[in-house]
Amino acid sequence: MTIPSPEADAPEPPRHIAIIMDGNGRWAKARGLPRVAGHQRGVDALRGVVEAGQEMGIDYLTLYAFSSENWKRPPTEVDDLMGLLRLYLRRELRDLHRNGVRIRFIGEWRRLAPDIVKLIEDAERTTSDNSGLTLVIAVNYGSHREIVEASRQIAVAVSDGSMSLDEIDETTFASHLHTDGIPDPDLVIRTSGEQRLSNFLLWQACYAELVFMDVLWPDFTKSSLEQAIDEYHHRERRYGATRS
Ligand code: FPP
Repeated sequence: MTIPSPEADAPEPPRHIAIIMDGNGRWAKARGLPRVAGHQRGVDALRGVVEAGQEMGIDYLTLYAFSSENWKRPPTEVDDLMGLLRLYLRRELRDLHRNGVRIRFIGEWRRLAPDIVKLIEDAERTTSDNSGLTLVIAVNYGSHREIVEASRQIAVAVSDGSMSLDEIDETTFASHLHTDGIPDPDLVIRTSGEQRLSNFLLWQACYAELVFMDVLWPDFTKSSLEQAIDEYHHRERRYGATRS
């Protein structure tokens, strides 16, 4: 007789987790620190969550680092965030690559400063054959723009005759989104107590479980991630069907 190990009973972790990392500013304010200090600690939390995701065997982790609306912030804060992205890519690419992480970016990142575009291209190219966790970083990302752009590409294809109207369905449409080839998220987490999606993965999160947590992003740890996954495992995913 084989005795099942405790791991054999553990439910599978969600395949794809997406996170809206919110609360950096409040974390800094509560300590009398400048907002950039909150973002810096936010990068530490991000590093921790990537490691935790790898340990837990999560296949895809998507992080909302900079939305298309974040340009409305004061220019100094935008510069700070771009500076942190630069540093992250320069300092951490080697370790991420060594750990088998595959990096992908979504959003209109090609419109960022040329040196950042180069760092992103390098990160994607260097890690493209890795088979560990896929880390998807959303930068200058907004779902509305992504959906409008997909519609425009499809309209062009129909008008030049390379696609027929009948070919437009959910699968074709999804293949024109930035997330082409990435499965939809099973779980979307937002920290800091806010309960909204803020233009994040509106198409892709159609059947995701949403978990809102009071923790501010810089305080988010592996145990916070486990708590969110535990909540996810208590939900019943029905995809529009009736209760079984
Ligand atoms: C929201 O907190 C957080 C952001 C807009 C930026 C998230 C960015 C990072 C964690 C670091 C940069 C990313 C990389 C990939 C290096 P908020 O500032 O809106 O917080 P608040 O609502 O408390 O003011």
